[in-house]
Amino acid sequence: MRDVLAAIDADRARHVDELKDLLRIPSVSSDPAHAADVRQAVEAVRVAFERIGITARVCETGGHPLCHAEWMGAPGKPTLLVYGHVDVQPVEPLAEWTTPPFEPVEVNGNLIARGASDDKGQVFTYLKAAEAWLKRTGSLPVNVRFVIEGEEEVGSPNLPAWMMANREAVKADVVAISDTSQFGPGLPSLCTGLRGIASFELEVRTGQTDVHSGTFGGAVPNAIHILARMIDRLHDEEWRIDVPGIYDDVAEPAAFERESWSALPQSEEEFRETSGFLSLLGEPGRTSLERTWARPTLEIVGITGGHQGPGHKGVVPCRAVAKFSTRLVPNMRPARVIEAVRRRIAELTPAGVESNLQFGHGAPPVSIPVDSKWIAAAVRALEAGFGKPPVMIREGGSIPIVTFFVEELGIPCLLLGYGLHDDRIHGPNEKFSLKDFHAGIRTGAALLHELAMI
Ligand code: BES
Ligand code: MN
Ligand code: MN
Repeated sequence: MRDVLAAIDADRARHVDELKDLLRIPSVSSDPAHAADVRQAVEAVRVAFERIGITARVCETGGHPLCHAEWMGAPGKPTLLVYGHVDVQPVEPLAEWTTPPFEPVEVNGNLIARGASDDKGQVFTYLKAAEAWLKRTGSLPVNVRFVIEGEEEVGSPNLPAWMMANREAVKADVVAISDTSQFGPGLPSLCTGLRGIASFELEVRTGQTDVHSGTFGGAVPNAIHILARMIDRLHDEEWRIDVPGIYDDVAEPAAFERESWSALPQSEEEFRETSGFLSLLGEPGRTSLERTWARPTLEIVGITGGHQGPGHKGVVPCRAVAKFSTRLVPNMRPARVIEAVRRRIAELTPAGVESNLQFGHGAPPVSIPVDSKWIAAAVRALEAGFGKPPVMIREGGSIPIVTFFVEELGIPCLLLGYGLHDDRIHGPNEKFSLKDFHAGIRTGAALLHELAMI
């Protein structure tokens, strides 16, 4: 084990160079124009596995492909399944990037590129960890399977069916995922809960075409006004969600969670600073940690409609669209939330106006029990990798497939996050700390060792 860690330390520069190659591929999964790039990223992962002596194949899913790899040379030992994704979010607005998003650069100990933290950099830690074991000892301490997909950022729509059809290929005792964050710099973290999500598109239509605002303005319903009023009524005066039933299934955090969260070193002001926002705002009587980890939200993510070009135009818009998403916490169920939102939108749609609500993608919330031997192994691995035992946190983001692993396949999941909350994932100038990349590789190597001891 000490040897393996030493090998990892010695190979730091090469690891970074290899990660850069993966980061150069613009694998934006939501944009059909980048489908070939997503495939190329998955193929690059396959080649990276083959190079270190792990059998890998690119598998078709009906959507973007995925890479499945496995090394099963440790009979009698547990099998670890590593899940991650190499698709990325769009890079717009491009003008806000200080360097091109797919030309990775090292600045102040960070690697800057789209996907550096979410999730190519974190995925890559497991490849390099396995490589170090294979190079040093010719084998791995446990059996390892990998599913590295290309559709996480669009909700993993084809992954459940693929896993159902390939049950043997995903058979494992425990799943490890590194696609979350540390609580802060130098604070390695194990994540015990994720929020779920349900996203929607709401269209309001009040007429056939836009009309002259002099001739008709003041006498016909303006679609943007109607939409704005509907949106406003989705929250009450104090910013609670005003959708009847939405809070019904919400589980309050357990006492031990509250206690451990209150010991976490972060003030409201520090949280505000990390966000870069001018102020904090949310449900009354809750801290920012509770608001983001343990409370549901409904956020408008974009509004379009009417005249947006240069100059001024005299029209009454007949159509307006808002996209929004709700974040779900344990024990909320996406189907119930979708129904509640549907009912509320119907209720808020005035007479003489049409509204059309489309559900986009969804993911259930996740809650991970902490009293398991797997968690204990992950704690020891993080300590070996980062030199410090981890804190227990939750995250406000979602990883759609986690519930499938836990509930359909019955495999416990470990969420070992190496990112930081100021990594700007999904935003311009995404970064990943090279120190954490390195510590993550060490943690991956240590995890294989710890799992072999179970
Ligand atoms: N890695 C993130 C999830 C995440 C974000 C975890 C922030 C912890 C903190 C993941 O790639 C992601 O972006 N998930 C989407 C899911 C959606 C596209 C279904 C999300 O959370 O919006
Ligand atoms: Mn991710
Ligand atoms: Mn993401």
